[in-house]
Amino acid sequence: MDVGNSKSRVVALFCRKAESKSTNDTSRDQPVAPVISSSTTSNAEPESVPSTPKIGEELKISSQLRKFTYNELKMATRNFRPDSLLGEGGFGCVFKGWVNETGSTPVKPGTGLTVAVKTLNHDGLQGHREWLAEVNYLGELIHPHLVKLIGYCIEDDQRLLVYEFMPRGSLENHLFKRSMPLPWSIRMKIALSAAKGLAFLHEEAEKPVIYRDFKTSNILLDADYNAKLSDFGLAKDGPEGDKTHVSTRVMGTYGYAAPEYVMTGHLTAKSDVYSFGVVLLELLSGRRSMDKSRPNGEHNLVEWARPYLGERRRFYRLIDPRLEGRFSIKGAQQAVQLAARCLNREAKIRPAMSEVVEALEPLPNLNDMANSSSYFQAMNAARASASTNGRNGVRLQPGSMKNGQPTRSPSMPSRYRGSPYHHIQPLQSPVANKP
Ligand SMILES: Nc1ncnc2c1ncn2[C@@H]1O[C@H](COP(=O)(O)OP(=O)(O)OP(=O)(O)O)[C@@H](O)[C@H]1O
Ligand SMILES: [Mg+2]
Repeated sequence: MDVGNSKSRVVALFCRKAESKSTNDTSRDQPVAPVISSSTTSNAEPESVPSTPKIGEELKISSQLRKFTYNELKMATRNFRPDSLLGEGGFGCVFKGWVNETGSTPVKPGTGLTVAVKTLNHDGLQGHREWLAEVNYLGELIHPHLVKLIGYCIEDDQRLLVYEFMPRGSLENHLFKRSMPLPWSIRMKIALSAAKGLAFLHEEAEKPVIYRDFKTSNILLDADYNAKLSDFGLAKDGPEGDKTHVSTRVMGTYGYAAPEYVMTGHLTAKSDVYSFGVVLLELLSGRRSMDKSRPNGEHNLVEWARPYLGERRRFYRLIDPRLEGRFSIKGAQQAVQLAARCLNREAKIRPAMSEVVEALEPLPNLNDMANSSSYFQAMNAARASASTNGRNGVRLQPGSMKNGQPTRSPSMPSRYRGSPYHHIQPLQSPVANKP
């Protein structure tokens, strides 16, 4: 059986290789489900492919795509120079390069069109399949929230893809690898624009498409933090006619895949909605979907979050402490409720992506910031004085929230009253939290 790429993204979930690309990213070496036999279902995708793929038969070249030679891309990236490396994923390395505005000619760095060139590792059929899916889907699908595929290269066993360059890189980098936390309104903007990308695929594209690999590293950001989805290697046509699902091998990334999909291999648009819920939780909490460096019981984000998702009054426990109260109380409440709906164990109850878009639309512009409430300020003053007064043992008590506003506990001395958000999770970064 094909086990996919050495660096992970596109691997059968039940059979992924152990290598992971960062110490923090522990999601990729976990067997999570039994092998699903696609042959048991009527509409399973064909899993056997000829050992030598017949490229001409499978590649549907969109007229919009430019064809590059390997040499052109080698020159465009200055010989795939290490200092042009933008990142590395399961498919291979991604390099920055420059080509002329309309053709395929390489040009001087800083001139013409800036592109990202993805090189395929030479590891077999799975890589080739994904390359094909990417060319076939992204060659056809044009939308402001899907990354633009500019062209491709297929030459002997070389497979490369050429995309528009996304100046701010991936959401994964911004959320988990930078020291400055992403501001709240930008997080909501990213959630909204990524939701629009999925809504387009599910509900507006000529033929519905299930994306199947929604996660922070596949959400790329333009200069204004608009999100665009990249990586269509796992995408599938949605079910047709009266079919309720497509049956597939279980592929994707541990921590994001919907439970019913992992268990049965039955793929629906609602599997993407679940993955969206996971990413929304990551945006809200600043925690990775899987992180084994956290204490026991907190490795899996969704499992950790479930108790708070169901309880309106404790939503603030989910919010990223690195925001230090710079979040909209109403917005956070609504986003947590939305995440809960997306993560419903019952796929049918999850909202459609157009409903998700509708719910997210107002959130980037809400300004009822938690840290500008007088309650929060009093709390901060108490914290500051507690730390200057040394060890007098100011103990912060959990409070409660009502309609998004903190309620005061009569038993709490006024100088210690404040946002329960801070009572429960003292200021600490997820990194500082690790053992
Ligand atoms: N069009 C692009 N513009 C700018 N940076 C990009 C672009 N495409 C990819 N990258 C960078 O390269 C990195 C690797 O991308 P790639 O899609 O190969 O792997 P990944 O998404 O990190 O992992 P996976 O293989 O699991 O999807 C991305 O995380 C991103 O930082
Ligand atoms: Mg990717």
